[in-house]
This record gives sequence, C-alpha cells and structure tokens, in this order.
Amino acid sequence: MKRVWLLAALLLAGVSTGSNRIPATELFTVDLSQWKPPDIGTLGDEDPFGELVKYGHALFTNTANEIGPAVPDPAKRFAGNNLACQNCHLQAGTQPYAMPMVGIWGQFPQYRGREGAVDTIEDRINGCMERSMNGRALALESREMKAFSSYMRWLSTGVPAGAKLLGAGTLQIKEPERAADPARGEKVYAQVCSACHGPNGSGVRAQDGLGYQFPPLWGPDSFNNGAGMSRLLTAAAYAKHNMPLGARFDAPLLSDEEAYDIAGYIVSQARPKKLDLDKDYPVRLQKPIDASYGPYADGFPAEQHKFGPFGPIRAKVKELAAASRTANAGGPDNGSHQSEAAK
Ligand code: HEC
Ligand code: HEC
Repeated sequence: MKRVWLLAALLLAGVSTGSNRIPATELFTVDLSQWKPPDIGTLGDEDPFGELVKYGHALFTNTANEIGPAVPDPAKRFAGNNLACQNCHLQAGTQPYAMPMVGIWGQFPQYRGREGAVDTIEDRINGCMERSMNGRALALESREMKAFSSYMRWLSTGVPAGAKLLGAGTLQIKEPERAADPARGEKVYAQVCSACHGPNGSGVRAQDGLGYQFPPLWGPDSFNNGAGMSRLLTAAAYAKHNMPLGARFDAPLLSDEEAYDIAGYIVSQARPKKLDLDKDYPVRLQKPIDASYGPYADGFPAEQHKFGPFGPIRAKVKELAAASRTANAGGPDNGSHQSEAAK
C-alpha cells in the first residue's frame, strides 16, 4: 500500500515539474532567517576554489583596504569610495533583509529593469561597484571578479537554483500616505543615528587602515545618486530593519514613520553624481517610483519621486503599465526578488 502511494507521489511530482505548470519558485522556498550559510573558518587553503572564496570574503568585508581608492597599487583602485560591501550587506552578506548574498548565485542571469536587459551575477556585482562603491567595473576575467562570484557561489551552497528566498533584498516599510519630512527626519537622525554616523553624515574612519568604523551616509565618500540606497523607499526599508546597528527585521527599533522621514533626510543630502543616469531603465515605466532622477513616464515631478507621496505615482504607473502591457512596472527592482511585504 505504502509503495503505491510513493509511486503516485513520484508520478505526480514528475507530472507537475514536467508539465512546467508549477514554476520552480513555488517548489522550493528557503527562509534565510532559518538557513545556516557555510562558515568561512572551515575553508582550507589547499584548493584553488577555497582560496578564491577567501579572497572574495576579504574583498567583501575589507573592500577599502583591498580595492579602495587609496590602496598603494593604482591598478587595484576599483572602488571610488572607502566603503565596504559589508557596510550595507551586513554580516559578510548573510543578514536577512540586509540584501544578503546567500542563494543569489541561483537567481542569475535575470532580467533587470535598470539595464533593460538580462544581467549575469557579474553585471550585478559591477552595478554595485559603479554605484554603491562609486567606482569602476571589474573586468570579467579579473581575479577580483572571480573571487566575488566564487564567494557568492560558495555562500549559496545548498540553496536550490531558482528557489524563492524569504529574507532576500530588503523588507518594505508600511509607507505613510504623505511626503517624507526631512526636517523631522533630521531630528530623529540627531537622536538615533548621529552618535555613530556623525552629525554631518560623514561617518568615522577605522582606527587602522582605510575603511570606516561607521560608514558615511552622504557626502563625497559615500555611494552615488545612482545607487539603490539613494532611493527613499530602499533607504527607509533598510534603516528600519537593520539600524541602529543591532536592530533586525524581527526586532526593529524605528517606526515606519521615523524610517520614512530619516530616509527623506538622507536622500536630501549631497552625494557623488553618476554620469549617464538617463540610460537607466530604458523601459521608463520600469523605473522604481522613488528613483530621484528622470526621465519619468508618468508626468509626476522629480520632487515627488524623491520624497513621495508615492501612492498617486504608483497608481498612475500601474494604469499606464496595464494599458501598455509593461511587466515589472514601478520597481522596486530590489535585486532578484522582492520582500514578501512588497507583493
Ligand atoms: C551603534 C552605531 C550605529 C548607529 C546608532 C546607527 N548605525 Fe548605521 N551603521 C553602523 C555601522 C557600524 C554600519 C556598517 C555595518 C558593518 O559594516 O557591519 C552601518 C551602516 C549603515 C548604512 C549602510 C552603509 C552606508 O554607509 O550607507 C546605513 C544606510 C545606515 N547605517 C543608516 C543608519 C541610520 C538611518 C541610523 C539611525 C536610525 C543608523 N544607521 C544608526 C552603525 C550605526
Ligand atoms: C551603499 C550600500 C551598498 C554597498 C556599499 C554595496 N551594495 Fe550591493 N546592493 C545594495 C542594495 C541597496 C542592493 C539591492 C537594491 C537594488 O538593487 O537597488 C544591492 C544589491 C546587490 C546585489 C544583488 C543582490 C540580489 O538580491 O539580487 C549584489 C550581487 C551586490 N549588491 C553586490 C555588492 C558588492 C559585491 C558590493 C561591494 C563591491 C556591494 N554590493 C556594495 C547596496 C549596497
């Protein structure tokens, strides 16, 4: 009897995958808050892959000292600021809802609205190199790029390709139905953030080496205006679920209103400018509604795209997208997957 059931189950599984009606994402869900990624301490030196993974880990956690703008070898100066990947992708890229790298190996290549094309994981790494790190792209065949991608391959060990990842990207806030208020954000910033990030957002340098103890949130050594973190809803989602340092998505300290206003304060500040941003999102309706730079397809002014209220923009973009049958309209374009709250 048991065997019959097993056979039936196998047949069913075969039929459902074979018929292609159930997408792979519905078959495997990995909850990154329960998942244990591999431990870097267990890697040996003997094999070339392990060696490259370790270099990738060093590049990710100690970026400024490895490929920052002030390293001794000019050929290695790839990043344009002294941030580390880990300053945003917390815990070496393993913290849920801090845009973790765990499992992303199996999510690429993927279509991305920003490029209007299918990106490889290397393209995506270079996206952060040119924007979050305000630097230049790594060559595909460079040891640095191979190290980054090996690190991500290794961090993704055991996560099925194409799995639905809970805890990937950021977790959206519940968005107030008003524009963000940078003046109110400034007050909360002074109370909650400035002790570490500094009263003028420029951070605190590390005692040794080139990086930061507390990274800057704006100013000349920060991410540029083409970076995901320069968008209000991304910054608010990130801040609420990861800051002040030690907060997590399941134990946030900021309210949605506070996160929204602090993010408004952060995006109102000066930061490096990326050239050619008009080339982003060639399908204009796919531009995230909180992108601070035009052109836009919806007729709303840049000011509202920057600070909200976003509800009216979202509604209009939805309407235009339905009329023109545009997929993925209005972002948020947070990597390969949105948080559950964003759906
Ligand atoms: C106790 C110190 C501390 C406090 C308070 C704090 N942060 Fe941070 N923050 C950090 C550190 C340290 C990092 C980098 C984390 C790492 O490298 O592991 C960071 C990273 C960040 C980042 C990403 C990196 C960057 O440079 O953009 C943002 C954004 C951020 N913090 C925003 C905030 C906001 C907003 C607040 C107030 C609500 C805040 N932080 C409060 C310590 C702090
Ligand atoms: C200032 C913050 C910041 C820094 C520093 C940063 N990133 Fe990112 N990264 C983000 C944000 C925000 C996203 C997702 C949102 C988006 O795509 O707009 C992201 C997404 C990614 C993704 C795609 C993740 C996914 O879920 O698909 C990869 C890969 C990545 N970053 C690699 C890197 C690497 C490598 C570095 C260092 C060289 C780096 N990032 C530095 C903020 C940062």
